[in-house]
Amino acid sequence: MSLRLGDTAPDFNAETTEGTINFHDWVGDSWAILFSHPKDFTPVCTTELGYVARLSPEWKKRNVKVVGLSVDGVDDHKKWVGDIGETQGTMPDYPLIADPGHAVADLYGMMHPNEDASFTVRTVFVVDPNKKIRLMITYPQTTGRNFDEIMRVIDSMQLTDAHQVATPVNWKKGDDVIIIPAVSDEDAKGKFPKGWKALKPYLRLTPDPSA
Ligand code: BEZ
Repeated sequence: MSLRLGDTAPDFNAETTEGTINFHDWVGDSWAILFSHPKDFTPVCTTELGYVARLSPEWKKRNVKVVGLSVDGVDDHKKWVGDIGETQGTMPDYPLIADPGHAVADLYGMMHPNEDASFTVRTVFVVDPNKKIRLMITYPQTTGRNFDEIMRVIDSMQLTDAHQVATPVNWKKGDDVIIIPAVSDEDAKGKFPKGWKALKPYLRLTPDPSA
């Protein structure tokens, strides 16, 4: 049975570059990104892991923890992080799961055998503090991911969890947001004191309520 949004993220114990973790305990009260990459010592993965490390202060601001995964062993992971620091200017400051037996990869559907029988594809799972899966993305092996986009979605989810709003196409933190149709104009007056612009009765734009 494949995973779906809203499912509890499967729990697991795994060996990582920072010792053995229990996934749910490690997530704790944070949001988490669990992402797989095909293989250590490969070029696209090297750029991705360096960029994720460069975003570290931004993840922290948002209470997000990050953990990577591939089917390589922990010794390779530890050797490779040096290359990542050297070539990308930032060394990963987050754990990398060693999953040579595919235990976690199988649990999360990270193996796509018709694409590659041996290595994980590029998956991303965002898990919230209740351990629910909130975002799933799968990329091919030859395309590096856009982690700015993943951060943008986390910004949207954290905002829309806290206020009765949704975010429009290409929204970025600070842009106007949409008051969800379930909120009546009468209720909106109390909830959105900055007011709104109604392009249609169902399309009401209001300034970011968290700003
Ligand atoms: C890479 O990370 O560069 C890569 C990995 C697997 C297939 C193709 C590229």
